[in-house]
Amino acid sequence: MMRYALVTGGSRGIGRAICEKLAGEGFRLLINYRSDDAAAEETLLRVREAGSDGELLKFDVADARATRTALAAWSDAHPDAYIEVVVNNAGIRRDNLMVWLPEEDWSAVLNISLGGFFNVTQPLLQPMLTHRRGRIINIVSLSGLKGLPGQTNYSAAKGGVIAATKALSQEVARRGVTVNAIAPGFISTDMTADLEEKELKKQIPAGRFGKPEEVAALAAFLASDSAAYITGEVISINGGLY
Ligand code: NAI
Repeated sequence: MMRYALVTGGSRGIGRAICEKLAGEGFRLLINYRSDDAAAEETLLRVREAGSDGELLKFDVADARATRTALAAWSDAHPDAYIEVVVNNAGIRRDNLMVWLPEEDWSAVLNISLGGFFNVTQPLLQPMLTHRRGRIINIVSLSGLKGLPGQTNYSAAKGGVIAATKALSQEVARRGVTVNAIAPGFISTDMTADLEEKELKKQIPAGRFGKPEEVAALAAFLASDSAAYITGEVISINGGLY
């Protein structure tokens, strides 16, 4: 039977690297993204180069109805299959000190990271429970663990996903479904391209930013059979920066 993995925000950065890695592990990839068709096509190309195949699923994870419709359409088209692995990776940053934080920048960050986690994961749960096998992997952040000034919105969103990871893991553990979170520190992607890397890396014990591939390797391990007894866990990948 074909094994399917869905990665949200798979068009670039960490999401793209996870798509490539899971393709190498034999999964068929469902590559979700919001707007950049060309970037998503590039990810699909790399999935094929890694020896697997996949398809693009374009929807906004913050839009509950659009998400439900897209996932239902996929299930209808694949009546004998189910999505065994979901990686909730889609996320944005809208940094500002709270005194200046516009309401829309609070909501947008919460709706994509925390809302997206619910919108995408909820419809996939029942099939995972029925098949008694599933992997839910949430990409959170160091920010959600310690809270970072200028990121009350982002810290709240990621902290919310961390708490949800711990709660949900206990609901579904008996049915062979694990729920874990990965908390990266600074990783070189478009999201961090505007940061002062030279200055920031002085604070990182490892002395450098991480690579998307390093996060992908951890995600692939959590998706594997070998990680069946790890659940409700938040694993940091940050070069020693806490
Ligand atoms: P990125 O900005 O390069 O990629 C984000 C991806 O999410 C893109 O593919 C984008 O299209 C997608 N996306 C954004 N909003 C979406 C929506 N509403 N619906 C569907 N897709 C949407 O960022 P990067 O660095 O690859 O980040 C991936 C995840 O890792 C995010 O959740 C981010 O918060 C998290 N992270 C990143 C860190 C870093 O240093 N780069 C550190 C800690 C966490």
